Amino acid sequence: MDQHRSHNPNSSYQNRLSAYKRDREESGRNPCGSKHSRPNHHPYNKSGSTPRQNPPSSQGLSTRRELYERDFPVYKQPVEVGCFSLDSERRFFNDSRQMRYYVEPDRNPNFDLRDGYKDRFIKRDDSVKEKLDHILRWILANRLKLSSKGTTASPCALDVDVVTWRGHLTKLLTSPYETKEGWLLAVTRFRGTLYISEVETEAARRDRETRTERHEEMMYWGYKFEQYTCADNAHSVPDTGGVVNTNEAFCTVVQTRLADHRLLFSGEVDCRDKDPDAPAPPACYIELKTSAEICTPKQRSNFHRFKLLKWWAQSFLPGVPRVVAGFRDHEGVVVTVDTFPVSKMSHLIKNEHNCWKPTVCMNFCCDFLSFVKRIATEDNPSVVYLFSWEPHRDVTYSVHRDSQYSFLPHWYVEEMTSS
Ligand code: A3P
Ligand code: MG
Repeated sequence: MDQHRSHNPNSSYQNRLSAYKRDREESGRNPCGSKHSRPNHHPYNKSGSTPRQNPPSSQGLSTRRELYERDFPVYKQPVEVGCFSLDSERRFFNDSRQMRYYVEPDRNPNFDLRDGYKDRFIKRDDSVKEKLDHILRWILANRLKLSSKGTTASPCALDVDVVTWRGHLTKLLTSPYETKEGWLLAVTRFRGTLYISEVETEAARRDRETRTERHEEMMYWGYKFEQYTCADNAHSVPDTGGVVNTNEAFCTVVQTRLADHRLLFSGEVDCRDKDPDAPAPPACYIELKTSAEICTPKQRSNFHRFKLLKWWAQSFLPGVPRVVAGFRDHEGVVVTVDTFPVSKMSHLIKNEHNCWKPTVCMNFCCDFLSFVKRIATEDNPSVVYLFSWEPHRDVTYSVHRDSQYSFLPHWYVEEMTSS
């Protein structure tokens, strides 16, 4: 066990927490001490004058960064409670059959990411909106792991406050720094649990339907990099002449807590360390990324300010400790591969002016979930509270009954209600 000590996620989370505390104390800006404390300007207080404890429900939630610069909130070490796989036809399996194993490439591998785009690529139909369906299937197959121990009268049948995709939480974490893309999140309260499912915005639909051929090809590059660096089992090598099929996925399901919000979410995992002695999931998982090669200080600064924020948020949430990045040239050839420990990402950005801060991301997410809990009070599977956000605006919401936005399927509601 000792050999794993340096990988111990508990200690790294603790270190991270201490580092954030040190930062905050050194800056001396935040007068508040406890995790329940509020900044000078309450996020609900539009005028910024007198903070209000109980804002009228018609008010929105601000995403202004300075409102979230307080102590890092409690974020419990994420625990993997299960996993599932989606096969080449997007069928659900309650197992790890799609797990892949990382095969470390050369530092300068010259991978051609364009290879196979025309003739060995099966692309998932991204006009099909799966909503939370795969996670709900996993919940039904694993209810005993989640339900309140023997108490049928529990107001919260699943013992979690929030069920969602990791990707939706990533969007929340990065909102205080996002200047281009807004989001729509549909929320339904059912048997005490809040289900959060994204709705495609009009702008996102337009972008999806008008992508250029170059953009379509560049989206393939990330998956091709995965093929160059992953094998199907711990003893094999990558099959770089095979088909890239983006229907296939291995997803982890993790449980954790952000302040008083008990979270259950799932996210796709690219691969794991093939060493059988590697630490248990999620600490053995590896996120793979591609990015344009960095040639100038300006490009480095942009990489730190924009890309590392997204990489950090995506991997920090489920406790994935490493991102392996392939840096590619304009022709789609990977010229360098680098590993970025997630726990060091926020150190890399310290020298950037006006850069992102993990504490802002986590506090905004925490306050958003508190906001949702206060607003989405009617426990009804056909009622949707639609939370809407555009950059430079507050988060607002509207309520919809039996509408196009309802997303909990009948098979889920019936099975959860009947037993
Ligand atoms: P990169 O990560 O190298 O950009 P993920 O990294 O989240 O596992 O996603 C795998 C790949 O899917 C991405 O590779 C990219 O090619 C594609 N992809 C995912 N989300 C995308 C998005 N919003 N727009 C374009 N491509 C996306
Ligand atoms: Mg990836």
